[in-house]
Amino acid sequence: MQDLQARLVLLLMGIVFSVGGASVYAHGDVQPQAVDTTGLEPLGDAWVERNPYSGNETAIKIGASAYNQNCARCHGLGAVSGGIAPDLRELPFDAEGDEWYVSRVRNGAIRNGVTYMPKFEGILSQEALWAIRAWLETVADQ
Ligand code: HEC
Repeated sequence: MQDLQARLVLLLMGIVFSVGGASVYAHGDVQPQAVDTTGLEPLGDAWVERNPYSGNETAIKIGASAYNQNCARCHGLGAVSGGIAPDLRELPFDAEGDEWYVSRVRNGAIRNGVTYMPKFEGILSQEALWAIRAWLETVADQ
């Protein structure tokens, strides 16, 4: 009987700890935010080469909010660089710019074991990442 009580106490402590732990994670602004891409044409698993949502109003709206939740802490609110990361308004909006954008968001920037930018492949969908690029186009400095 006492053994059972001890087990119950341990179980309860476990629950309290895991709930406490979860709230710590939920609080951290470094957690990537899920992006709802409802309304965008699905793109499948293979990456397309050019932004399929360029000029698409729905994508621009989704991209603006996805950017602020996932990229702004380094690249600045509204893409006005906060200083520690490149100013994304200056990225060219041609085929080469698309290629560079995709390679960066998929792989991040990791050199000599230091993560300058985390990889977003597997964290944000292709749809969400192109939507961000569609929004970036609207604030481009060129
Ligand atoms: C933790 C900070 C951080 C976050 C979050 C972050 N980035 Fe970056 N990003 C960087 C840094 C730092 C670089 C420069 C990397 C280097 O030194 O090669 C960079 C580079 C880039 C580049 C290449 C720019 C260029 O001019 O070469 C693109 C494109 C980019 N980021 C897009 C994004 C997008 C889109 C998001 C959100 C989905 C994002 N980044 C989130 C820090 C971040």
